Formats: sequence, structure tokens, C-alpha cells
Amino acid sequence: MASRRRGAQLRRSGRALALALLGAGLALPESPAPQPRYRPDGQLVRPEGYREWMFVGANLNMGYREGAPPPKHDRFHNIYLPREAYRRFAATGQFPDKTMLVMEVVRGATHASINRRGTFQDQLVGIEVAVKDTARYPEGWAYFNFIGPEGKALAEAKAFPREACWDCHRQHGAIDNVFVQFYPVLRDLRPGP
Ligand code: HEC
Repeated sequence: MASRRRGAQLRRSGRALALALLGAGLALPESPAPQPRYRPDGQLVRPEGYREWMFVGANLNMGYREGAPPPKHDRFHNIYLPREAYRRFAATGQFPDKTMLVMEVVRGATHASINRRGTFQDQLVGIEVAVKDTARYPEGWAYFNFIGPEGKALAEAKAFPREACWDCHRQHGAIDNVFVQFYPVLRDLRPGP
């Protein structure tokens, strides 16, 4: 008798807990998908909060041009895209309109704290952004850099001319201008070139 009552009590408190969790879930506001924002003069506002997006790849010391000298310091590229764009890409193989990809460029360092070997990511030296916005850019994507000449982060940036960035991305990016071939998290969804 006592154990039956105890069982009912446990069931009741389990239900209460489930309801409380559901309530907490419902109370959390769904944050809207990140979208590119522009100034009236057409400059792109630096995307914020991208370190909470999907992290899809980290590349080290990549150089795109034959014969280019190796960099003086190691350089990592960290690539992020919004979770919503990631999900759409996973489902359809396409990057939805208004997709943003952020590439942080981080200088490597070797000797600090207890480290005696190997390289860690040290100083942020670049924030480059690719935006797909077909209403605004007839060629689909535009490219930006948010670190100014003296290494200062810029609040907004102008799109580069097509030949500075777009041409190479169009020609060599595996899918829709994006270098999916170098981002394992995306590549593994879409095995291909
Ligand atoms: C000669 C080829 C080439 C040119 C020119 C080029 N890129 Fe890229 N870009 C790459 C490659 C390769 C990657 C992927 C690997 C990496 O660097 O980590 C990449 C990756 C990127 C990414 C990450 C998202 C993506 O599309 O894959 C951004 C953002 C980016 N580049 C911005 C720029 C900007 C801004 C310019 C112009 C100032 C530019 N790129 C010019 C070759 C190029």
C-alpha cells in the first residue's frame, strides 16, 4: 500500500518536473536567424555574436598563390556560419539567401604559459565575411574585411570589387562560391569535389 502511494508520488513529481522543463523551454525566446545588416550607404555592419554560430573549419597557413612567401607568423582561419544556414545546407545542399560566413584570422604563438611545443591561437588579426544577398548583389555573394589597416576592428565595411575576392571564390569554391572542400563539418554532409 505504502509503496503504491510512493510510486504515485514519484510519478506525480516526474510529471511536475517534465512540465517545469517544458515551461522553461517555452519561456526561452527563439533568437531570430542572423541576417546581414547594412548602413544607408550600403556598407555591411560587422556581424556580431558569430562565435555562437556553427564552427565548421580551422585551417592553418593556407596560401592561395603559387610562389607566395610563407607567412612570418602562423595564421589560423576559423570559419563560422549561422546555425540556420547550416541546417538548410544540410537539408538541401544549398546556402540560403542571406547566408553569412565569417572567417576569423588568428595569429599563432608557441611559447606562453606551460606550452613548450605546438601552436595555439593567439591574436585576432582578421575578420573577413562573405554574404549571399541576391537582391543586393547581382553576382550573389559579396566579400568584406572588418580589420582596418592599423589592426583595428571596423564597425562597417565596403564590399570588395569582384576581381579581388569573388572571382577566385566562384572559380575554386566547391559549392556556390564557398570552399566547402576545406571545411570538414560541411564537407562531410556533402561528399563531393
Ligand atoms: C586566390 C583565391 C582567393 C581569393 C582572391 C580570395 N579568397 Fe577567400 N578564400 C579562399 C580559400 C581557398 C578559402 C578557404 C580556405 C581558407 O582560407 O581557410 C577562402 C575562404 C574565405 C572565407 C570563408 C568562407 C568561404 O567562402 O569559404 C571568407 C569569408 C573569405 N575567403 C573572404 C575573402 C575576401 C574578403 C577576399 C578578398 C579580399 C578573398 N576571400 C579573396 C581563396 C580566395
